[in-house]
Amino acid sequence: MPNDLTIRNISLLDGLGGPPIHADLGIRDGRITEVGAAGAGKTEIDGRGQTLCPGFIDTHSHDDGAFFRHPGMEFKLAQGVTTVVAGNCGFSAIPLDPAVDPGRASGGILAGLEGDFTDLNGYFEAALARQPGINNMMLVGHNTVRTLVMGMEKRAPTRDELSQMKGHVAQAIEQGACGFSTGLIYRPGRWSETDEVIELAAEAKATHALYTTHMRNEGDYLLDAVDEALTIGREAGVHLHISHHKSAGPANWGKVGQSIAKVDAALQAGQPVTLDVYPYTAGSGRMIEYFNLDNINRELAKVIRIASCPAFREYEGRMLKDLAAEQRVDICDLTHQILTAPKGDRTICIQFVIDEQDIVTNLRFHDMMVGSDGIPDLRGRPHPRLFGTFPRILARYVREDRILTLPEAVRRMTSLPASVFGLKERGVIKPGNWADLVLFDPATIEDRATYDEPKSEPAGISLVVVNGEIGFRDGQHLHGGSGKMLRFNREAYGE
Ligand code: ZN
Ligand code: CU
Repeated sequence: MPNDLTIRNISLLDGLGGPPIHADLGIRDGRITEVGAAGAGKTEIDGRGQTLCPGFIDTHSHDDGAFFRHPGMEFKLAQGVTTVVAGNCGFSAIPLDPAVDPGRASGGILAGLEGDFTDLNGYFEAALARQPGINNMMLVGHNTVRTLVMGMEKRAPTRDELSQMKGHVAQAIEQGACGFSTGLIYRPGRWSETDEVIELAAEAKATHALYTTHMRNEGDYLLDAVDEALTIGREAGVHLHISHHKSAGPANWGKVGQSIAKVDAALQAGQPVTLDVYPYTAGSGRMIEYFNLDNINRELAKVIRIASCPAFREYEGRMLKDLAAEQRVDICDLTHQILTAPKGDRTICIQFVIDEQDIVTNLRFHDMMVGSDGIPDLRGRPHPRLFGTFPRILARYVREDRILTLPEAVRRMTSLPASVFGLKERGVIKPGNWADLVLFDPATIEDRATYDEPKSEPAGISLVVVNGEIGFRDGQHLHGGSGKMLRFNREAYGE
């Protein structure tokens, strides 16, 4: 029987970190059938010596709603990403009360959700109906669960509320979520105490799923926040994954070294911990979360750029300091004005608060993965990480700066996250595994998304295959719709 697809003349990196081998590869019924020599295929592609590796895994996405609004997921597919992990930073599509605005706790981060689902199975069903271009693995988020049960109460839960929250987390884990996420700088998560989070994270223990966290602090109190995260992982008895590890603000630059030392000590003591990072010196998020309206942080305001702003569309793509100078107003007054305007709380900003050397320190750590943290709002000028993260690792940190070797960078973006996030039969190229693949030229791969032109697809990627179907080829999106809704260490939903 011929293969559905045979790719010949490739430099194959299997995802495990070893050197490349020259090979052909065969695919049938969505899975890899042959590696090395391969029989004839109904479709044959000449790889022209380019590198073929497993599709990249974006460990940190906010794509819960993007699967509805942009089911082709072009901004991920064109980067070679074949699976995202969604539901991060404590914000997830589920659990949901259809009587209430689905995005209410997230301020738009989950925008795009449609349908009357309430649980993970319902979400999977609704997302699959839109024929997703890539695979999705979900976390269940603390902020979402807490809002559903307690609204915006600034207090500890009662016994009854806590048990309701635990029920929601347990149900999502039971239906296949890969873990429980928190965003402890955000509302309402910031009002929770450590004990509450431990109790909820412990619900992931039954399936050996994860606790992932946007920690309580990523600046002045980073090290305390790492201690809290390690405590939660340890006490709950679950694998800890620290999201977008960074040290924000010039006064804190360099601290990621100390933070990693704490993680390393925990690893030595036998505690499972991993992390991810995005390869940019700016963060991005909902602007209102970063400012106290009664006391605007002037130093922070000076490094803010507006990404999207329903109240003042003309500010999109501009630095606050330039707008303030042009208008001859104080930058703190301008910040206040933007945030208090109608829909001003939905402003998404980009903040230049990270040191390049800290990114390098992060990438040198052996258990560091890559997560885009892209916010899939295509209006305005989003952070370029949405379109550029994975090619940027390969262009800048592998080819130019030689921080990682190519096989090691690929391992960090494929087999390592696949094993930790429970992507069964993915992340490694071998017969029997699902055919999630990317073909690229290591000499020319390049992110082209910039802060000024963020919605630019990368160069140097010639083919992306998702579950055996070609989703992207030579700059063209083919809308294969072959993505699946994955479940932690189990077969995908509906299989
Ligand atoms: Zn976050
Ligand atoms: Cu995030």
